[in-house]
Amino acid sequence: MKRVLMVCLGNICRSPLAEGILQSKIAASEVSVDSAGTASYHVGNLPDPRSVEIANHYNIDITGQRARAFTSQDFSNFDLIYAMDLSNYKYLLGLAKNKTDRAKVHLILNELFPNQNREVPDPYYGGTQGFEEVYQLLEAACSMIAIKLT
Ligand code: 4NP
Repeated sequence: MKRVLMVCLGNICRSPLAEGILQSKIAASEVSVDSAGTASYHVGNLPDPRSVEIANHYNIDITGQRARAFTSQDFSNFDLIYAMDLSNYKYLLGLAKNKTDRAKVHLILNELFPNQNREVPDPYYGGTQGFEEVYQLLEAACSMIAIKLT
């Protein structure tokens, strides 16, 4: 059973979608998926209503999720840690204690566009179109991850 952690800044927009999408593609008995943020301003909150809405539109329910902050303990609790953008990625590498920790951290869009170091744009300050774009990027990336894990 692989344990996958999705990480963004607030854990209310991008990583909750990534968690919900990947979970929808793989049986819960085969993978455990969680998400976390590098910042703690939204800890305990539901996902952003715009993320809830776009997920709902594609028949994925993310309303059971609550935001939490990434902790260094997560390096022990997960096998694969996917960062949404370079800022999250650098933050995670900064907390990694050794090579084993570092090897777990990946930019999620490199699953889709290998070695291009592309970022999932932060949709927080934009409009609903940004959430659709984020959804499509994560849908495609999670399809690749699901193929790798099953
Ligand atoms: P997320 O989006 O990192 O995809 O959850 C954001 C959520 C909140 C903020 C920024 C980005 N914020 O500044 O509060």
